[in-house]
Amino acid sequence: MEIREATIDDAETIRGIYLQAFGRAEAEKVAEVAIKLLKQTHPVKTISLVAKQNEAIVGHVAFSPVFLANTGNQLGYILAPLAVAPNSQSNGIGSSLVRHGLEILSNTGSFMIFVYGDPAYYSRFGFSTELARGFIAPYPLQFPEGWHALRLNSADFAGGKISCIDALNDPALW
Ligand SMILES: CC(C)(COP(=O)(O)OP(=O)(O)OC[C@H]1O[C@@H](n2cnc3c(N)ncnc32)[C@H](O)[C@@H]1OP(=O)(O)O)[C@@H](O)C(=O)NCCC(=O)NCCS
Repeated sequence: MEIREATIDDAETIRGIYLQAFGRAEAEKVAEVAIKLLKQTHPVKTISLVAKQNEAIVGHVAFSPVFLANTGNQLGYILAPLAVAPNSQSNGIGSSLVRHGLEILSNTGSFMIFVYGDPAYYSRFGFSTELARGFIAPYPLQFPEGWHALRLNSADFAGGKISCIDALNDPALW
């Protein structure tokens, strides 16, 4: 398996992965977010990665920047979205995408990394719901137990309300 940065040419393949991996109700919306993140022009770069196996793209993840809402200073990144094509799941591809992204970010600074998802999955990477408590998500959470944070390189931020870039600025995603 190979992991590389996604390009705009991967957009339709990435959309296909989300349409297969997510339930009908949310698939289109999450696919749209993945593609918007691929095209975003915010000065702080979003990391979009794809996993390739046997010449086919089978997984995608994005890490986009987040900021302290009151100062605008960058806190770190949020991991969203993540998907692996159903036929390729449970082979370590999702974990490799997450770990690869965390390694890239850990080589560039001391960041808080956030994710809103299943604790049973994200705790394996060191994400903690307890650590996330001091950080208020941009919108009220429908599933507060899914709000996680991880400190990279002993990032030293006390907490506060966070803001995200346009692609994730939709209350329906939270
Ligand atoms: C979640 C997802 C990205 C994991 O990718 P993957 O390549 O299958 O993951 P890995 O092979 O690295 O890890 C597989 C493990 O994750 C577990 N797992 C998969 N999805 C999970 C979920 N939603 N919650 C908890 N555990 C999950 C599997 O049971 C397996 O457990 P094991 O290691 O104890 O056997 C993939 O299942 C997927 O695309 N799911 C649908 C989309 C989705 O829910 N994305 C957001 C995740 S919050």
